[in-house]
Amino acid sequence: MHAILLLNGPNLNLLGTREPEIYGTETLEAIVQRVVEYARTLGLEVRHVQSNHEGVLIDALHDARQWASGVIINAGAYTHTSVALRDAIRAVGLPTIEVHLSNIYAREPFRHTSLIAPVCVGQICGFGANSYLLAVQAMAWLLKGAP
Ligand code: DQA
Repeated sequence: MHAILLLNGPNLNLLGTREPEIYGTETLEAIVQRVVEYARTLGLEVRHVQSNHEGVLIDALHDARQWASGVIINAGAYTHTSVALRDAIRAVGLPTIEVHLSNIYAREPFRHTSLIAPVCVGQICGFGANSYLLAVQAMAWLLKGAP
């Protein structure tokens, strides 16, 4: 069974109450539970880390080199600002899928740039919490040796 790191960045711990008109009403805990269960049906084990601190996210990526086959990341606002996170994704070299609940291209212009997109295999955004499940499906496909 492959193990994958699910990484959630700043403010995502507030899902459920945070701007529900944009992010929905489901809590992060409930979303992670759904992700873990769905991943299991596809033969993937998910370990989850959420942090509001850039360095903690980077440390989790470094640690994942020891045990993970891939990474699913919602970097929150660090998506648009963090060269350090981008460098960590590239340095670690694990196949990484970028996820967002909202469609970042339909929002404010400063959200249209993702610094991490070029170092990820692909990006899924705009499907609410289901973006995470789609990312799990994509990861299962990648790890099976996508054609
Ligand atoms: C987000 C989009 C980001 O622009 C924002 O800063 C977030 C959440 C999303 O999941 O839609 O914190 O990553």
